[in-house]
Amino acid sequence: MRKKIVAGNWKMNLDHAAGLQLYAEILKLINEDVKGQQKVVVCPPSIHITSLTQLSIGNSIVALGAQNCHQFNSGAYTGEISASMLKSSGADYVIIGHSERRAFFAEDDLVLAQKLDVVLENGLIPIFCIGETLEQRNAGTHFDIIESQLKEAAFHLDGSQFQKLVLAYEPVWAIGTGLTATPEQAQEVHAFIRAKVAEHYSSDLANELSILYGGSCNPKNAAELFSQKDIDGGLIGGASLKARDFIDIIKVFNS
Ligand code: PGA
Repeated sequence: MRKKIVAGNWKMNLDHAAGLQLYAEILKLINEDVKGQQKVVVCPPSIHITSLTQLSIGNSIVALGAQNCHQFNSGAYTGEISASMLKSSGADYVIIGHSERRAFFAEDDLVLAQKLDVVLENGLIPIFCIGETLEQRNAGTHFDIIESQLKEAAFHLDGSQFQKLVLAYEPVWAIGTGLTATPEQAQEVHAFIRAKVAEHYSSDLANELSILYGGSCNPKNAAELFSQKDIDGGLIGGASLKARDFIDIIKVFNS
C-alpha cells in the first residue's frame, strides 16, 4: 500500500509566535479528528523547526520538513542552510525543486540533482516537485517538460535511493492562483509520472511511490483529487496556513 501523505508548505509566512500557535492548533485537531494511516508533514520556515519539534514529541502522525536546503553539506555559503543542519534540527523531509525556487532563485536541474543527493545522504526524505508552466501546457509540451525534469534531476539516483523520494506534481499555473487542475488533468499527469518511473526503474518501485498533487488544493476539491487512482495526497500551500482547512484536507484519508 502506498503511503498517503498531506504536506503543508507554509512558504515565507508566520513569525515565530504565530508559527507555534498554528502548529499547536494543528496538533490538537489531529489528535481530535484524524483517524487513519495518513502521514502529515508540516514545512514551516526553517528557523521555526527546532521549536516545533519540541511540541510534537511523541506524535507519530506528524513530521516536520524544510522548504529548501543548500546543495553542499557545509562551507562558505553565507546565509544558506544545509541538509545536515535541518536533520539535526528535527526535520525529516525537505521540499526540493518547488517552482518558486526554480523561478525566483534560478534553481536548475543540475543544482536540484545535487540537492537530492545531499538530502538523501543526510537521511532526509525529499519531496521533489515537478510541473509545467501555463505556456508549456498551452503549447502541449507538459509531458515532455515533466519527463525532462524527472530525467535530468532525479533519474541518476539508483533504485534504492529513488524509492525514498516523495514526488509532487505541481502545475505552476495552479499554484496560489485558485486555478486547480481538474482531477482528470492531475490524474493523467500522475499516471504519466508513474509510468516513466516504472520504465526507468521497475513497476514495483513505481507502484510504491507516493505522488502528491499541489496547486490550489483546498477542503472543497481535495476529496475528488485524492480519489484519483494515482494521486496519493497533496502538497498544500495557502490552505495549510489555516488549521481547520488543513485538517479537513488531511481528513479525506480518515478510515
Ligand atoms: P497553493 O500552493 O496550495 O497555495 O497553491 C501549493 C504549493 O506551492 O506547494
